[in-house]
Amino acid sequence: MKVLLTGGAGYIGSIMIPMLLEEGYEVKCLDRFFFGEETLSGVRNNPELELIKDDIRWFDPEIMRGVDAVLDMAALSNDPSGELDPEKTMAINYRGRVRVASLAKKYDVSKYILASSCSIYGFQDGLLNESSPTNPLTTYAKANLMSENDALALSDNSFCVTALRQATVYGLSPRMRFDLAINGMTLGFYKNGKIPVMMDGTQWRPFVHIKDTSRAFLKVLEADEDKVNGEIFNVGSNEQNCQILPLAEMVAEAINIPFRFEWYGDPDKRSYRVSFDKIKKVLKYSVKFTPKEGAREIYDALKSGEVTDSKKTRTVEWYKYLIEANKIINEVAMKGEIL
Ligand SMILES: NC(=O)c1ccc[n+]([C@@H]2O[C@H](COP(=O)([O-])OP(=O)(O)OC[C@H]3O[C@@H](n4cnc5c(N)ncnc54)[C@H](O)[C@@H]3O)[C@@H](O)[C@H]2O)c1
Repeated sequence: MKVLLTGGAGYIGSIMIPMLLEEGYEVKCLDRFFFGEETLSGVRNNPELELIKDDIRWFDPEIMRGVDAVLDMAALSNDPSGELDPEKTMAINYRGRVRVASLAKKYDVSKYILASSCSIYGFQDGLLNESSPTNPLTTYAKANLMSENDALALSDNSFCVTALRQATVYGLSPRMRFDLAINGMTLGFYKNGKIPVMMDGTQWRPFVHIKDTSRAFLKVLEADEDKVNGEIFNVGSNEQNCQILPLAEMVAEAINIPFRFEWYGDPDKRSYRVSFDKIKKVLKYSVKFTPKEGAREIYDALKSGEVTDSKKTRTVEWYKYLIEANKIINEVAMKGEIL
């Protein structure tokens, strides 16, 4: 079975690709490689993996020929990056992904899975499920919701569409992201002896380990179409809905340090608790990892030097850097834009 993974060299994709190869899938990875190709260095020479450097907005549709399933992960992947240039975010995260879904249907791909986000719940009380009202507060969240709507509208008997609303991910990856809560807390302690906590610490967020969210995509890939076609699933577990300040305490406990923290940022406008009953019931999906295990693996990797803190690990800073670098190149060469 041939799978096309967009954004496959990213934080989640670079964990998911080895899993797919291990399971015997042939994989085409289409990515701009904004964070480099080296994130896939462990599998780059695998004959079942094809790397395609291209953009979801304008890749040659022939790339879809012969593909059985698409996992659509490419995006500007968080709120701050999405606000750098909201129009470009819509062009990539919304229209780009709808283009991928539409081309998949046109080329008789049988399954399309969209990497969406629980951030579309925004700020709400109560335990939110897939039928709850949405409240997307940022360009990033709005683009996710619009992509879900348009992609799901394409589903029919021969084109199976599923949207996976992932919780906030944590854990190690070859394209490390320290702009995610648990990862950033662990780094903050490692560097400064204090855990950075976003104000005011009472906000709720659901979390999921990177290997667990990757397994959810594989579950949907393997599931009977009648269970997943036209469906939305929240990806995570009820137990990993956490408030940010107690989460920071949990991180401290995991790495066995006295709890010291420092506030940062403006008071968070987002807070949501999410129900993961549907994915558990319909797909018999359960998570294997906990935030404590995630924090521990990151802390150990920082200590051993397996991962380091660099600009590339903070998504918005890296995109700002690319835009600036491109401006300088453009001034010299007077040609197109990078993003
Ligand atoms: N990490 C999380 O906590 C989380 C939570 C919910 C949803 N998601 C979603 O999951 C997906 C993957 O997230 P991630 O954390 O791996 O992000 P990431 O930023 O690490 O990876 C995104 C990848 O997409 C590529 N890309 C960006 N724009 C592109 C374009 N126009 N054409 C081709 N490639 C492009 C980048 O080069 C990068 O490799 C995203 O859609 C993200 O919004 C992530």
